[in-house]
Amino acid sequence: MTSSIPLRIKRIETVALDVKFLTLHHRDDAPLPDWQAGAHIELELPNGLVRSYSLLNRPGETGHYQIAVHKSPTSAGGSRCVHEALSEGSELSAQAPRNHFPLHEEAGHSCLIAGGIGITPLMAMAQRLNQLGRRWELHYCVRTPEHAAFVRELQTLADEHGNHFVCHFDQVSDANPLDIAATVRTGNADTHWYCCGPTGMLEAFEQATKHCRDRAHVEYFGAKQEAALEGGYTIELARSGKTLHVPPGRSILDVVLAAGINVKTSCREGICGSCETGIIEGEADHRDALLTPEEQAENTTMMICCSGAKSGKLVLDL
Ligand code: FES
Repeated sequence: MTSSIPLRIKRIETVALDVKFLTLHHRDDAPLPDWQAGAHIELELPNGLVRSYSLLNRPGETGHYQIAVHKSPTSAGGSRCVHEALSEGSELSAQAPRNHFPLHEEAGHSCLIAGGIGITPLMAMAQRLNQLGRRWELHYCVRTPEHAAFVRELQTLADEHGNHFVCHFDQVSDANPLDIAATVRTGNADTHWYCCGPTGMLEAFEQATKHCRDRAHVEYFGAKQEAALEGGYTIELARSGKTLHVPPGRSILDVVLAAGINVKTSCREGICGSCETGIIEGEADHRDALLTPEEQAENTTMMICCSGAKSGKLVLDL
């Protein structure tokens, strides 16, 4: 595991209903590792949880990281901790940025579709596309204007190079919800499509972009499928030489951790990639939201927090 980056919170602002905007500096004011648009950091919170947050500032601004956190009503402790336990000056750590949602910088046109707090990676993308002088449009779907963060900044970004930004509100009297399928139908053959938002929105997006999957990119911030907890198979850990049984109701990750093997984890929902593990033998039952269907079919790697086994035995690179 790489060493953590020591961070201090420089500023916290409320930028929409239940959304806090955090600016984080290196504790020694040293430059931070650079990142690419779409990347996230894994914050190690004071309550012991580790949570992934997309970086929303422009790649290359290595003097600080900026993230925004929505306080989820169903929070398992991550967003509640950020909202209630952190303040300006708080110290915490993060793993260096990683990117599972890369921007295809060569695209003739990019269409960015955000739902709620899913705006954060797309905001970094809009800034990067401006830097490259590329064409883009951004559709930002939120319930009401009070729920919409960074609207003025996004409009400024769009105006800088004549790009298109529109908010879609669905809980106001003159609602203008986004019709994703119709938007995709009117796109050009060189458009790359990006979507980050709640699961229902991502499913609609994946349905609408079925015909152009190589140009459609998604980032889930919640589990895409139920975890595989059927159990009843064996895992052989090639490096540590252990053979373990996975019983019903437990994930591979649960069993491996209980056996004292140190594995990096964060989301435990198949969306962050922390627990990605190589498969040496056997067939995985993939339930993550990160690997493409092609990568899942290749069966060379799996997220052990949520994926299980279709074969009676899996040999893992652990
Ligand atoms: S812990 Fe995030 S994908 Fe497994």
